[in-house]
Amino acid sequence: MKTIDLKAHLQLDMALGEVLQKRRTNRDCQSKQLDEEVLSTLLWACAGITDEDGRRTVPSTMDLRAVTSYVLRADGAWRYNAAQNCLEQTTDKDVREVSTVRQFDYVKTAPVTIVFVADKERSKTARPTGVYVDAGTMGQNCYLAATAMGLAGCIRASFEHEELRKAMNLTEYLEPILLFTVGYPK
Ligand SMILES: Cc1cc2nc3c(=O)[nH]c(=O)nc-3n(C[C@H](O)[C@H](O)[C@H](O)COP(=O)(O)O)c2cc1C
Repeated sequence: MKTIDLKAHLQLDMALGEVLQKRRTNRDCQSKQLDEEVLSTLLWACAGITDEDGRRTVPSTMDLRAVTSYVLRADGAWRYNAAQNCLEQTTDKDVREVSTVRQFDYVKTAPVTIVFVADKERSKTARPTGVYVDAGTMGQNCYLAATAMGLAGCIRASFEHEELRKAMNLTEYLEPILLFTVGYPK
């Protein structure tokens, strides 16, 4: 399996009040690839481990941590391994376009779509809505980090879960449930 080591995440120093005031959906981004530190910071914000017991920047239903972040880029789909701070490739195909139902141009232009993937085996003892709430908090953390770093981003729920799962080469019990598409603003 191909892996890429990620750089350390950046310190985000915009005041929380300002971040909340400024947060907006912005679908207008450049195709320029995100700097490695910037991608690493987005991933840390939505799924980074912040405690020795494995707890993260986000809460999780019954502490199951059943939602994992993946990255779609031109060079393939990648699983974020938070413990190792690296990306693990699941396919070398560019499947960003599969993550949009109406072929929105911004999804094809944006360099990165973060995919929140639910592990249905791991979450089976929780309510079915739990993983969606988990993913929502992860998406909001992406918005907050994106705002603090001056990025354009959009959370997205309209896509074909099964089609994307297959394109990302994921096993059947893993389900992509929410997306965050992001890049530098135009
Ligand atoms: C659960 C959820 C699903 C969404 N799905 C999509 C989507 O599929 N495509 C899209 O372009 N925007 C999507 N959005 C973004 C909303 O359109 C956006 O948040 C809304 O217009 C308000 O704008 P704001 O985020 O700037 O406050 C979604 C937002 C949420 C919370």
